[in-house]
Amino acid sequence: MKIVVANWKMNLGVRESAALAKGVLRVLRGLPAVPEVILAPTFPALPSVGKILSRSRVRLAAQTMHAQEVGAFTGDVSVKVLKEVGVQVVIIGHSEQRRDHGETDHGVHIKVVAALAHGLDAIVCVGEPLAVHDAGESNGYVHDQLQTILKGVEVGRRHRLFVAYEPLWAIGTGHTPTLHDIEVMHDHIRTTLSTLDIAGVIGLYGGSVRLENAYELLHSSHVDGVLVGEASARMSSLTEIIRIASERS
Ligand code: PGA
Repeated sequence: MKIVVANWKMNLGVRESAALAKGVLRVLRGLPAVPEVILAPTFPALPSVGKILSRSRVRLAAQTMHAQEVGAFTGDVSVKVLKEVGVQVVIIGHSEQRRDHGETDHGVHIKVVAALAHGLDAIVCVGEPLAVHDAGESNGYVHDQLQTILKGVEVGRRHRLFVAYEPLWAIGTGHTPTLHDIEVMHDHIRTTLSTLDIAGVIGLYGGSVRLENAYELLHSSHVDGVLVGEASARMSSLTEIIRIASERS
C-alpha cells in the first residue's frame, strides 16, 4: 500500500484544514483501492481534523513535538498532549524546524525515542543541503544523520518508523533529484539502517512532490510513499496525488 503524507505546514487555517480533511474522506470513499493517507495540520486544527478523521483510516499527524511530557517549555507542545488530541503520527526533524528552531540531529534522536515510547509513529526527515549535493557527498551526509538520529532506537510492534528523504534544495523549490538518484538514496538509507539493526522502516520521498512527478515516484518500487508540502494544501492536487497512490495500493 502506498502512502501519502500531507504536510500542511502553516499554509491552512483551522476551517480550511477541516474542509480539506472532509474533501479527502470524500475522495477516498470513491476509490476502489485505498492508499494510506496521513494529514498533518497546524497545531490548533488538530482537534477538529482529528474529529473528522475519527471513524476513518486516515491518520492524524503533528508537524513536530516536544520530547518532554510536561514542564517549563514555553511555546512547545508535548508528546502527551498530542496524544490527548488524537495524534497518531509525528513528523520529526523537518528541515524547516531545523532551520527556524535550531533542531539538531541529536534533538531529533531524543524526540524519536520519546515519540516511539509513547506509541506514536515517527516520520523522521533527513536530507542534504545543496552544497553537499553539488559536492557529491549526499550519501555520507544522510548516513551520518541516520547514525545520530537512529542509533540505539528500537522499533517495536506498537509503532512504525518512517524515514523521509527530503533534500533541502528540493523543498518548496520545484527542483527534485532524478528518480534514479531518489531510488539510489532509498537503497542507501535501507543499507545504513540495516547496519544499525533497524528493519521494517518505511521510506518516503519529500521535496517538490507535484502532480507532474507523483506518478513516477509512486510507481517506484524503491519508494513507499510521498511527503507532500505545498501541493497537499490544495484540494485538486492532493486528491489527484491520492488517486495516483491508490493505483498502486
Ligand atoms: P514541498 O514540501 O512539497 O512544498 O516541497 C515538502 C516538505 O517540506 O515536506
